[in-house]
Amino acid sequence: MGVFKTIRDAIRQLINHVSFSLSHRLRSLITQTHAIAVDALSHSYTTGNSSTQILSDVSFFVERGETVALIGRSGSGKSTLLNLISGLEPIISGEVRVNGQALSTINDSERTRLRGAEIGFIYQAFNLIPTLSVEDNVALPLALSNVSYKHQQPKIADALQAVGLQTRARDYPDQLSGGEQQRVAIARALIHRPALILADEPTGNLDAQSGRLVLELLSKLVDEQSSSLLLVTHSQEVATVADKILLLEQGGISSLSKQDLSSSAAW
Ligand SMILES: Nc1ncnc2c1ncn2[C@@H]1O[C@H](COP(=O)(O)OP(=O)(O)OP(=O)(O)O)[C@@H](O)[C@H]1O
Ligand SMILES: [Mg+2]
Repeated sequence: MGVFKTIRDAIRQLINHVSFSLSHRLRSLITQTHAIAVDALSHSYTTGNSSTQILSDVSFFVERGETVALIGRSGSGKSTLLNLISGLEPIISGEVRVNGQALSTINDSERTRLRGAEIGFIYQAFNLIPTLSVEDNVALPLALSNVSYKHQQPKIADALQAVGLQTRARDYPDQLSGGEQQRVAIARALIHRPALILADEPTGNLDAQSGRLVLELLSKLVDEQSSSLLLVTHSQEVATVADKILLLEQGGISSLSKQDLSSSAAW
């Protein structure tokens, strides 16, 4: 009897072990299919003696290839959320996974590598380096990833061609219009073909017409590269081009249908 019990216990242990590793693998496969997985993320800023809660228990996914608009009133924490996802701001509580990689488990240099290799960031204020020419600005992610000068050249030419600025390679940012500067910033964000693009109000500093052109270009390039895009915007028109709309409000996040957009308190 004792022998049978031992065998039965061993089999039970084996089954438990197999089903645990299967469910573990299944769980990690599920989280790995998302470009971004934000889980129970909370964040606060402390100034002096007071602490302000910006994000409270925020969870959401961005699927691969999906374009998601993030809306919310000024000060609601949209840029903070983007900075946490890109690893620029350290995670205090909760977890962010970018292409399955948990940010809280990796060190600073791995975070920098992830940001350089897998994320393209586009800012409202373009953030071009004024002392570098257009082509050198565009080449920055390649230079930071130690791509040789020889291998940079065709990529720079392709990226400038994609945004229609091939003739402006030797110009400097202050010689370009706002829309042109944002197209340089898009070329810079996409040159290393990142799986994920984070864009913080990319059309916020442009007139309606230039904003529309920049957005069309960004959507087209994101589609061509099958990248995922998380786009912060204050524009209802911009939000409607997204596959999914998320509203950040009082520290929490919720999904919004396109029909609910105009009545939302986010504008
Ligand atoms: N480094 C910081 N230290 C302290 N407070 C900060 C810091 N960065 C942001 N905040 C505060 O956090 C809140 C959210 O800021 P955040 O920039 O994320 O808002 P936002 O939604 O991007 O707003 P906007 O639409 O105006 O860009 C604001 O109240 C801001 O003052
Ligand atoms: Mg902001």
